[in-house]
Amino acid sequence: MRKLRFGVLSTAKIAREKVIPPMQRASRCEVVAIASRDPERGREVAERLGIERVHGSYEALLADPDIDAVYNPLPNHLHVPWTIRAAEAGKHVLCEKPLGITTADVEELIAVRDRTGVTIQEAFMVRTHPQWLRAKALVRSGRIGVLKAIYGHFSYHLADPANIRNVMGWGGGGLLDIGCYPITTSRFVTDDEPRRVAAMIERDPDMEIDRLGSVMLDYPGVQCIFTYGTQLVARQTMQFIGTKARLEVEIPFNAPNDRPCRILIYDGAGLGGVVSETVELATCDQYGIMVDAFAASIQDGTPQPVPLEDSLLNMRVIDAVFRAAERGTWEEP
Ligand SMILES: NC(=O)c1ccc[n+]([C@@H]2O[C@H](COP(=O)([O-])OP(=O)(O)OC[C@H]3O[C@@H](n4cnc5c(N)ncnc54)[C@H](OP(=O)(O)O)[C@@H]3O)[C@@H](O)[C@H]2O)c1
Repeated sequence: MRKLRFGVLSTAKIAREKVIPPMQRASRCEVVAIASRDPERGREVAERLGIERVHGSYEALLADPDIDAVYNPLPNHLHVPWTIRAAEAGKHVLCEKPLGITTADVEELIAVRDRTGVTIQEAFMVRTHPQWLRAKALVRSGRIGVLKAIYGHFSYHLADPANIRNVMGWGGGGLLDIGCYPITTSRFVTDDEPRRVAAMIERDPDMEIDRLGSVMLDYPGVQCIFTYGTQLVARQTMQFIGTKARLEVEIPFNAPNDRPCRILIYDGAGLGGVVSETVELATCDQYGIMVDAFAASIQDGTPQPVPLEDSLLNMRVIDAVFRAAERGTWEEP
């Protein structure tokens, strides 16, 4: 079967460092072109990564007949406009998270997908990582008893006002950048949706972006709480707490690709964190798995790991978190 031929919109860091190299190694994909607003930067990145074709504009890449699919890692406020333009040019689109900035954005993309017939998917790589498939299977098998609580945390320290994450008008802020991960993974493992949401958010006084947030998600029978922060010491964890044991995904989001990932299960002995079982996953690259799963859904019609309908539900929770924090009330997604 012919590989899915990707064109990459921009020289974004995530593309250069995390997604293009595994895309080039993937069994179902190849990278045939890259575009940059700055042709010199485009040429330099293409040469370094071994990409043959460089386009000096995003428009030119979309007009390239040798491209089947576009990878869109633009700043958040450009996800929807360029995904629409790519779809209208007949290209499938793998678009970085968050797919848009509001629920209405995702609704618009669903309409565009239905009108154009292309495949559009949010690049939530965690959703196809074997450690998350295993964590879900373990929880659902009853390994920790009955799941009753979920505890999550995701933070880093990044105060540079020039970074796209700190530009309020570009969809910056912590909830859209990293708070979306505890939401998507808790929805994934519970196979459910929160009935209501409460939250508090602190904004940066100068940049106005949300830099700290603590969120409660009320799933049927399961209470999830998580904190995210963009001006905190780096930390990430997701823990699933049951009536008999606690399951921890050790490095839940930025999973390493050079060593095995681990799931730790604690049965509560000693209270000091004695691990009763360690589940070690084979070393893998979550971005490579994601792009091959996206390609398979187009080439073989396999189910999309994160269909737009799922992204819509995730975005509804994000919108509800912002509303809950503003109003100081519980909000329904
Ligand atoms: N899934 C993950 O693990 C993951 C990890 C990190 C980031 N992301 C997502 O990936 C996206 C990009 O993040 P990043 O950190 O890689 O961003 P970045 O390095 O700042 O790259 C963004 C790129 O967009 C292009 N661009 C177009 N218009 C722009 C504008 N007005 N201002 C700035 N850049 C503009 C630039 O490329 P040219 O100049 O070449 O055109 C720039 O290199 C974000 O949506 C982020 O949420 C996902």
